[in-house]
Amino acid sequence: QNLAGKTAIVTGGAAGIGLGISRALLRAGMNVAIGDIQEAALINARDELADYPERLLVARLDVTDREGFAAFADAVEARFGAIHLLANNAGVVVSGPIAQASASDWDWVIDVNLRGPVNGLLTVLPRILGHGEGGHILNTASTSGLLPHAGAGIYTTTKAGLIGMSEALRSELEPQGVAVSVLCPGPVRSDISNAGRNRPAAYAGSGYTAAAGPSAADLPDWMMSADAVGELVREGIERDLLYILTHNEHRAGLEQRGAAILAALPAGEPDAELMAAMHMTLEN
Ligand code: NAI
Repeated sequence: QNLAGKTAIVTGGAAGIGLGISRALLRAGMNVAIGDIQEAALINARDELADYPERLLVARLDVTDREGFAAFADAVEARFGAIHLLANNAGVVVSGPIAQASASDWDWVIDVNLRGPVNGLLTVLPRILGHGEGGHILNTASTSGLLPHAGAGIYTTTKAGLIGMSEALRSELEPQGVAVSVLCPGPVRSDISNAGRNRPAAYAGSGYTAAAGPSAADLPDWMMSADAVGELVREGIERDLLYILTHNEHRAGLEQRGAAILAALPAGEPDAELMAAMHMTLEN
């Protein structure tokens, strides 16, 4: 689909992958509304994207705040008109042994990574369906939602949920002109290992005491840049892909996972009638 002239919301768009997605969508001619919880990052994003003053809106948004999300969407519509693309990208992580996690560790990561996209959907999907011009929902999950990652149990729980949500919505919304994609990045240079910088006081009391990880600038060159991910996302949306993956290095792991699931199936021939009745393929 042609993105030029259409309008996108990118949550967590002031830094990292969200900023890369925003830049790619602006380059493709879209109006882009960045919502992010971090004021300083919003100011930086406005500077970074200064080439597009007419087509850029930046505003504070906490994706866990459902009313705030509605007010944000109202402001986007007032400025640009109909919203066509919702990029549910804001995400946080806590890392470490699951047994050490506090209730607030679970609550924070679930609220931002899962309830945030739900709030986005509740806010924006009716507006997209209402204008009838079609649209696209992009969820930023992670390959951690497909393959286990040491010390990432809470994160994996949320990202696997987001992949499931995307797969389920895809077939349901397609007949209504709304496409759904799920971005599952591998390692990307960003400040996510310092996600605690965005942890509101309401979620105080982490079970982990580890210092923040390295910032984006200190991460190795072999990690992918956020701008490269942004271009893959733009292409994936234009090509209407369900899955947008970034690293071929996940091939062996994904094959192992697929093989392990297939190996767990009972023996015997599938019953075609049951398959049709119970909608047992990805398209259903
Ligand atoms: P980042 O930390 O650089 O960017 C995340 C952005 O989300 C920040 O600007 C932050 O202020 C914002 N944010 C945090 N809480 C928010 C809230 N409640 N409401 C609104 N905005 C909020 O991290 P990164 O890496 O760019 O993360 C973006 C997405 O990519 C996340 O969903 C993350 O889980 C995912 N991801 C990142 C990978 C990586 O290697 N960097 C790999 C796989 C997935």
